[in-house]
Amino acid sequence: MSVALFAVHDLHARPASDEDGPTPTEILKGLNLTVDAGEVHAIMGPNGCGKSTLASCLLASPEYEVTSGRIEFNGDDITDWPTDVRAKAGLFLGFQYPQEIAGVSVIQFLRQALSARKGIDLSVLELRLATMDWMKRLGMDSSFVDRYLNEGFSGGEKKRNEIMQMAILEPDLAVLDETDSGLDIDALRIVAKGIREVRADRPSMGVVLITHYQRLLDELAPDHVHVMVDGRIVASGGMEIAETLEISGYESFRS
Ligand SMILES: Nc1ncnc2c1ncn2[C@@H]1O[C@H](COP(=O)(O)OP(=O)(O)OP(=O)(O)O)[C@@H](O)[C@H]1O
Ligand SMILES: [Mg+2]
Repeated sequence: MSVALFAVHDLHARPASDEDGPTPTEILKGLNLTVDAGEVHAIMGPNGCGKSTLASCLLASPEYEVTSGRIEFNGDDITDWPTDVRAKAGLFLGFQYPQEIAGVSVIQFLRQALSARKGIDLSVLELRLATMDWMKRLGMDSSFVDRYLNEGFSGGEKKRNEIMQMAILEPDLAVLDETDSGLDIDALRIVAKGIREVRADRPSMGVVLITHYQRLLDELAPDHVHVMVDGRIVASGGMEIAETLEISGYESFRS
């Protein structure tokens, strides 16, 4: 049997607790997910079902505590691996609300991230050339890379920047949390096209796409669509699931 690119087994997680505070309630309650190389998986679910918590746990955010279950990546059990080691191994996470980093420009950040991920130290000039092509493809102005990271970026600029980071860092698995939030229709198409182009360059990359909207799925044609309710995947299938959701909402998926 071949090893999946990425697998989550019976994952339980809750917010990290203060030592003397009450034990926080569980948010992820036995989540299972398997992604093979080259596949695009979409996760849809109502507000508060735990999608962003899952994304944070996948990148080992100290904000959450995994209480049981297992995360496997390229055949390794990475459940206890810290964030930087996961990133180096090829896991990329795009955040729903990307952070501003004061005084660090887009290009400086990329340079550090690339060095951490691949051990390659490109000069700013070399990196500028590498980003130029992607900025053009993503409809971004060339002055963009010299701005401070996420400072004053519009919603659409943040998301395009995220796709550019993904393109340059060449992950094996990208987890994108609400890449479509705050995008106008043209920007959504550009971002979808960006994701498609990154995939065309790297056909073996797996993608986990967290989204509320069918529109992005129409653009990206995921191989699997999952419905998440109350900390678990409760249904999986193809695009017909997204279509059912569009018509009748999450009600029929709640137990
Ligand atoms: N650090 C935390 N402390 C306390 N509660 C938390 C924490 N993080 C998340 N929660 C709660 O866990 C639930 C799941 O939150 P999460 O952000 O994962 O939802 P989501 O599925 O991403 O929702 P949305 O679609 O609105 O983005 C929510 O009820 C949220 O308030
Ligand atoms: Mg969220």
